[in-house]
Amino acid sequence: MDITEAIRSRKSIRGFKPDPVSQEVLEKILQTACRAPSTMNTQPWEFLVIAGDMLREIAVRNARMLQSGVMIHPEHTITGWSDKSVYRERQVEVAKRIFHRMDIPREDKAKRAAWMERGFRFFDAPAAIILLTDTALTDAGPLMDMGAVMQTICLVALEYGLGTCIEDQGVMYPENIRSVINVPDTKRIIISIA
Ligand SMILES: Cc1cc2nc3c(=O)[nH]c(=O)nc-3n(C[C@H](O)[C@H](O)[C@H](O)COP(=O)(O)O)c2cc1C
Repeated sequence: MDITEAIRSRKSIRGFKPDPVSQEVLEKILQTACRAPSTMNTQPWEFLVIAGDMLREIAVRNARMLQSGVMIHPEHTITGWSDKSVYRERQVEVAKRIFHRMDIPREDKAKRAAWMERGFRFFDAPAAIILLTDTALTDAGPLMDMGAVMQTICLVALEYGLGTCIEDQGVMYPENIRSVINVPDTKRIIISIA
């Protein structure tokens, strides 16, 4: 696929077929994406690729915590905005478009909550890639490099006919990933890609 075409056609996919993605394809995607640039060639990324029962287990635990009203507590500061800003307007706009597309009326709180939960369930994707970095690195420093590699993953995935959604929601309750998979304390969970 042509680079411009890939960049233009990438979009966040929030509904997936259940077909498994082969380990071989996932490895190829990550090997290629690792060519992303990084500050002083630190290559600060590590990946956890989760599928099958383990992914479902994390998804169920995430959904349960969301339903119980547990405050989200990701391992790095996620983007926030003031109420009267263009950033808030853009966020509202994307939410409006999604709810319109999904035929979910504004007042239907149950359906809205169910939609929100889907993000915490990795949109029921057959596989998720969790991006980690290392506590030996400064908190914010590696985030730019992580951004470069996550976009590259999404672009390479297109080459294999795979849609992706980069999502904070999947890592809002990081202990669920840590309890299902043995993540060393020296690793920081940054983001997920469904
Ligand atoms: C760092 C980051 C975090 C994101 N987190 C979420 C998320 O938690 N849930 C979600 O549905 N989309 C998430 N997105 C996807 C954005 O909403 C999406 O990229 C944006 O609306 C533009 O749409 P597009 O990707 O289809 O071009 C995230 C994107 C990025 C880059």
